Order: sequence, then structure tokens, then C-alpha cells
Amino acid sequence: LIEAVGAREILDSRGNPTVEVEVLLDDGIVQRAAVPSGASTGAFEAYELRDGDKSRYGGKGVLKAVEAVIDELGPAIEGVEASEQRIVDEILNETDGTDNKKRTGANAILGVSLAVAKAAADSADLPLYRYLGGPNAHVLPVPLFNVINGGEHADNGIDMQEFFLAPIGAETYSESLRWGVETYHVLRAELKAAGYATGLGDEGGFAPDLPSNREGLDFLIKAIEKAGFTPGKDIALGLDVAATEFFSDGVYRLENKDWSADQLIEYYAGLVADFPIVTIEDALAEDDWDAWKSLTDALGSKVQLVGDDLFVTNPQRLADGISRGVANSLLVKVNQIGTLTETFDAVSLAQRSGYTAMLSHRSGETEDTTIADLAVATNAGQIKTGAPARSERVAKYNQLLRIEEDLADAAVFAGRSAFPRFQG
Ligand code: PGA
Ligand code: ZN
Repeated sequence: LIEAVGAREILDSRGNPTVEVEVLLDDGIVQRAAVPSGASTGAFEAYELRDGDKSRYGGKGVLKAVEAVIDELGPAIEGVEASEQRIVDEILNETDGTDNKKRTGANAILGVSLAVAKAAADSADLPLYRYLGGPNAHVLPVPLFNVINGGEHADNGIDMQEFFLAPIGAETYSESLRWGVETYHVLRAELKAAGYATGLGDEGGFAPDLPSNREGLDFLIKAIEKAGFTPGKDIALGLDVAATEFFSDGVYRLENKDWSADQLIEYYAGLVADFPIVTIEDALAEDDWDAWKSLTDALGSKVQLVGDDLFVTNPQRLADGISRGVANSLLVKVNQIGTLTETFDAVSLAQRSGYTAMLSHRSGETEDTTIADLAVATNAGQIKTGAPARSERVAKYNQLLRIEEDLADAAVFAGRSAFPRFQG
């Protein structure tokens, strides 16, 4: 039974305050969870409560959310069985009482939801992935390493937010990790040799001032080859365009030019023809549904089209997208929706509907590694949690190494099968 719930304000990887929650059970178990935070957040995400008190942390403090945990959310679940996750999350949502968790804050609610799950797992003496996913949780995800950072995540001139290496050809997760790391180090040397800066962006990728997005993809291909791998066969590429960030009044502003959605779709078709791209996320803006439909009709059979700002891990928005035939993959960010239950509901809906699912960190992260366990618990087969640099990113990749070891012979690496639409 849940005996007490505490919370505090800690810092995330950008040096901004975030919520950490601790849950104590009546058997003496204590577990904690910390909440991540985005920069290129979708308009339809659950509400992140910040104090707005400019005298502390530029208004970004989270003392109100901490107080909501201590005064309201915690007391509401005291005495409830920690393993009753769906009941716990329902009580949290009812206590908040709003549609988008605006009153107590999705950051407060999520912290409690995750800490309860961890405490229940510990109390059952199970690793989190096994507690959440049961005996069938066995698929190690393909890690999508975000090795070039642009957009809102870096102060460079690249419009697209994320350029991924996806080591799909490896035999095991640990091998895919090594391939990604080796290529990452070669990429640094290549950028340096070409005279570019090799400082890191928010997610641990390099943030060079490249002249074009294509140039970024060219560098990835060069690095893959120089590291001794075959592009497409061993390591494929991916993009998170985060197009909402450069969309306004029906126009996309990319590489200092104005683009219509149709022109942009044609541009993507060219990229998919020229590069071994397995996944493109948020290729269009979060509200541009008709263009999303055209994009899906044009490229959906060849490449994974992921909805991040489009779906915001929200089962209703996803259901809407599925019925319209829009996109074919769900990005999964626990703090976009704010409870574990609703996260699982979104993933289940995606999987039942022939959509793939990719677990995801946020650009503002902590040392919390819950998403690594979630990736295995859902057998999703894909995770993006930054470059193999910066401890808050590496922490998730390292947790997957532990899970791989724990699963031993039962572990299966998703590999190429994670991207059923990829024909390259
Ligand atoms: P965010 O970026 O965490 O800043 O929203 C991640 C993403 O867009 O996938
Ligand atoms: Zn995204």
C-alpha cells in the first residue's frame, strides 16, 4: 500500500527546475522518479505547471507542482495498492479535475505515476521492464542516436532538429550501441576536419553550422562508411524535422526559403530516394492534417512517418490520425500525456492499428531511466534518447545494457524488423 508521497524541485539537463517524486510503501520500499521537459513542445501536450515567479529561475520554478504532489495528489492515493496503476492514475486525473492536467500540472502527476510504478516493481522484486511488461517483455529497441542537433536544440543555422543514426543491422542491442558510438566519434573527426565546430547541442549531438540539411545527411553517410559500416544495411538514417517550429500562416520556412506543404513533401521524397532513411518525424506541422494525409499517401509505404507534436502521445489525437490515415508511427513521450496508464493506452492503440511506436526522451532530461524499461516493456523496438554523450542521455542507453544482460538468452534485438516499411 502507498503510505506517503513526497516531492522536491531538482534540476534537469538544461539547468531548469523539474519535479522529482518519492513514494514510500508500507513494506518500507522507497522509489523516486524525475520528470523531463521539452523545448519544441507541441501545443496539444498536457500542461506543464511552472511557477511564473520571475524572482526564481526566471519564472521556471516548479514549487507549485511540488506543493500539488505533497498537498493533494499524494494524500489522494495514500492507502491505495501500488500495483493498481490504472486506479492510481485515475485518482490522480480526478484529483486534478481538468482535461489537460492544468490545475496540478502534468509534471506533478507524471512524477507520482512513475514513482508509484517503480515502487510497485521494487515491492514485487521485479525489474521495472518486467513488472510493466510481464514475461513477454523481451525486445531490445533499436537506438536512434541523435548525432546532429539543430532547430530549437542548438544555436546553429540548421532548421531540422534531429539527425539520427539507426544501427539496424546489428545482431544485438549492445552491438548496435557500439556501432552508433564508433560512428559518432568518426563524425566528430569528420566535422572537425571540415572546419566545423564540434560543440554539443541539448541532446548530445554535434551542432555544426552546416549550409543545408542535405549536408547533414552527407556527413552521416561519410561517417558511417569511414567507421567501417555500410549505410542502409548496417546503419540507416532518420530525421526529426520538428516542422511545427518553422511553420506559420500556411508556409514552411526552411533554408531561408518559403515552402508549401506540397513542395516540402516533394523535397522529402527526394531525400528518401537519395538516402537510406528509415524514419521521418514531424515532417509537417501539428495542425496541418490535410498535408499530413498527402505525405502519408506519397511516402507512407516506404518510410516510417512519426507523429510527435501531431499526436502528443494522446490516445484521442492518435485515434483521430488513424481514422484519417495520417502518419504510421507514434512518438511516445510520457510527459506529453502525463500518466503511465495513458501512455500504455496510446502505445496499445498504435500497435493494434499497425502503427509502430518509438519511445522518446525530452530535450530536457534527468538521470531517470524509466523510458528504457518502457521500451522493453512495450516491445516497441525503437527508442530515441539522444547521442551517446551527456550522462542524462547515456543513462538510458546504459539501462538497456543492464536489461539486455538481465534478459540474457530471452533478449531479442529488434533490428531491421523495427522498421517494416523500410525498403532500402
Ligand atoms: P523536445 O524535442 O523534447 O524539445 O520537444 C524532442 C522532439 O521533438 O522529439
Ligand atoms: Zn520530435
